[in-house]
Amino acid sequence: MKRTVGIIGVTGYSGQELLKILLSHPMVSIEYLGARSVKNRPRPMGEVLPQFRGAASLSIHPLNAEDAARRCEILFLCLPHGVAMGIVPRIIKKRKELRVIDLSGDFRLRSAGSYEQAYRIRHRSPALLKGAAYGLPEWRREAIRSARIVANPGCYATAALLGAVPLAKAGLLKGQGLIVDAKSGVTGAGRSLKEELLFTEVNEDLRAYRVNAHQHMPEMEQELRRVSGRSIRLTFVPHLVPLNRGIYATIYAPLARRLTEARLRAIYERRYGGEPFIRILPAGTWPEVKSVAGTNFCDIGLRLDPKGNQAIILVAIDNLGKGAAGQAVQNMNLMCGIPEAAGLLACHPRGSEDRFSLSRE
Ligand SMILES: NC(=O)c1ccc[n+]([C@@H]2O[C@H](COP(=O)([O-])OP(=O)(O)OC[C@H]3O[C@@H](n4cnc5c(N)ncnc54)[C@H](OP(=O)(O)O)[C@@H]3O)[C@@H](O)[C@H]2O)c1
Repeated sequence: MKRTVGIIGVTGYSGQELLKILLSHPMVSIEYLGARSVKNRPRPMGEVLPQFRGAASLSIHPLNAEDAARRCEILFLCLPHGVAMGIVPRIIKKRKELRVIDLSGDFRLRSAGSYEQAYRIRHRSPALLKGAAYGLPEWRREAIRSARIVANPGCYATAALLGAVPLAKAGLLKGQGLIVDAKSGVTGAGRSLKEELLFTEVNEDLRAYRVNAHQHMPEMEQELRRVSGRSIRLTFVPHLVPLNRGIYATIYAPLARRLTEARLRAIYERRYGGEPFIRILPAGTWPEVKSVAGTNFCDIGLRLDPKGNQAIILVAIDNLGKGAAGQAVQNMNLMCGIPEAAGLLACHPRGSEDRFSLSRE
């Protein structure tokens, strides 16, 4: 039986990417699309979003969360932080079967105090924070399966955590000195108008921003603490690069014990060997943004620096794929008991369907 799904905020970059994936997902029926900029009456999808002209006879509705909750079992919220936390308590009360996947930062942190520090606004539904599952399937599969609210991770956090958590879990990360140097394409900042994101400002430029003060740092630290059982401090420097999409994180991880490169590789291969969307690259091969663009894959390259006794972990994802919409669909599949890779293999390289059998889960 097909699952009924809806997207609130379908006009944004992550909402559009989600719509693209859901339109070809074999096990869902799209029952609601809503957007703030659609006023008064529903409008044909292809009129509001021309890339979907002729794709399906769906309409985009003026935003009405209660209507969305009535029609759907699963709702994706693709809204700026601060908006979802005003909507979620109302709609989950309205319909007890409803489950929510929130792409914003509103339900990622377990404490309202950490949220307020990171986002500089008061949390309006703190009672829901502890019950929300952090939606990183490779590390939180069981919690995601049964959660009513899944907080899809931030795009930078997805790359940093997929790269660093295997070492944290193995007790190999030192408590301090972890550095995440990451670059993002411009869709990572969303679609709203900002002068510093104009083509002429971004093109031919490379710049750091929010140095060691980015709002994704607390969720990285929270999840590292969760898997390792202790506090791991990190330095995080995000950069904007003139690409439409893609995240590239280079992680420098001082090690608590001496390792060989073969042992380092074995840790990652063993942990991620059965994962449908993580590819550990062969020795001497480094990830490229182009190889993951438009997919839900995360590519990881590894190098040991024996003199400094540190691991260098290179991670590439698509910020709109594994960093947002692709991961959200992976979470939905888990929540619904659908094979985890369903709907996510269409744009994958030929042959991957055999490797990542849909009957895995
Ligand atoms: N972009 C990424 O790579 C990425 C990755 C991971 C997570 N995220 C998170 O996902 C969420 C959406 O990101 P995005 O990049 O898709 O943003 P976006 O392109 O800026 O789109 C935002 C969407 O939210 C709607 N919206 C804006 N303000 C609203 C309000 N006050 N009330 C109701 N609707 C409102 C917009 O509606 P209209 O356009 O119709 O006005 C649009 O549909 C954000 O929380 C972001 O942090 C984004």
